[in-house]
Amino acid sequence: PDLSQRHTFGIASRCRVLHEFCSVQQLLDLYPRETPCYIMGEGSNTIFTEDYDGQVLVNKITGVEACHEPSGVRLRVGAGENWHTLVAYTIEQGWGGLENLALIPGSVGAAPIQNIGAYGLEVGERISLVEVVDVITGQTFTLTRDECQFGYRDSRFKRAEAKHWVVTHVHFWLATDITPVTAYAELAALDNPTPVEIFNKVIEVRQQKLPDPAVLGNAGSFFKNPTITTTEYEALKKSHPTIPGFVVNDQQVKVPAAWLIDNAGFKGQCIDGVCCYHRQPLVLVNQHHATGDALLALARAIQQKVSQLFSVTLTPEVRLLGKQGRIEL
Ligand code: EPU
Repeated sequence: PDLSQRHTFGIASRCRVLHEFCSVQQLLDLYPRETPCYIMGEGSNTIFTEDYDGQVLVNKITGVEACHEPSGVRLRVGAGENWHTLVAYTIEQGWGGLENLALIPGSVGAAPIQNIGAYGLEVGERISLVEVVDVITGQTFTLTRDECQFGYRDSRFKRAEAKHWVVTHVHFWLATDITPVTAYAELAALDNPTPVEIFNKVIEVRQQKLPDPAVLGNAGSFFKNPTITTTEYEALKKSHPTIPGFVVNDQQVKVPAAWLIDNAGFKGQCIDGVCCYHRQPLVLVNQHHATGDALLALARAIQQKVSQLFSVTLTPEVRLLGKQGRIEL
């Protein structure tokens, strides 16, 4: 089977076997005991850099159940639902809470794994429970928000213990009295906005800055925004006075990877059909028949130059896959 349409970066690649599953039972029936297996959603944060020597199972568990309570709405959503379709549906229904996360590519099941976030909101803030199945034991269980250990683009689902866990359903709590999240520069200009207005603004901003994966292959931000110590930040500020920084706590500062990559001179640069996007250098794009080697070459060049110039290590935000499974940069 061809994988090029199964991941948004679109590198030409194949796998041995591919199946879609629509229920927990079907997943357990299909899960192979011997061959390596990769379980995925819409492939917007996974990049196949070459042929995958295993089986791919695609999560297509669907369904949106809503339960009204006096102070809000509880939703239970199948992991295979499209993320943006869910956000648009909640907005249509008049339920605020997810609007800052409009237009993020991918599936509902992938959202808690990397704790998707944009424009001042992380999905973990709206999740109440995550339903999981362990494909080895066949056991199903539920994690509360606290048990998910959400962090910046991070959660318990990324730890070794979760190696055989598959997210099957995600529960959201959309309280009627949620305060709109408008601190982010692009939203701050709106005057007392409604969820619909934030939703529309986020869509507008994203369409201006970020390439549409349906038009130009990409997997969103390629690297995470690095967190450095306040001391390291102060030192950098001396040599590079314009470097932006966002205080995380009294010991840590988050620096925009886009600024580091931009100031390392990579914006708009390409290697063999893979480019550092000219409007948002944190996004690498498949400009023309990209290969995995070209992507890895550009990503490593960026990583090395940024480390050399700023002594900051960039780590991938995307999941990279090679022949045998997960690979590091
Ligand atoms: N910047 C530059 N040059 C540029 C563009 C940006 O120097 O050409 C600097 C500016 O200082 C700017 C800063 O980078 O203020 C931040 O840029 P932006 O607001 O576009 O956000 P980001 O930090 O690059 C993050 C997320 C995005 C999310 C946006 C909006 C990560 C890794 N990325 O990007 O998420 O949409 O904020 O909230 O945290 C994704 O994860 O795939 C993703 C696209």
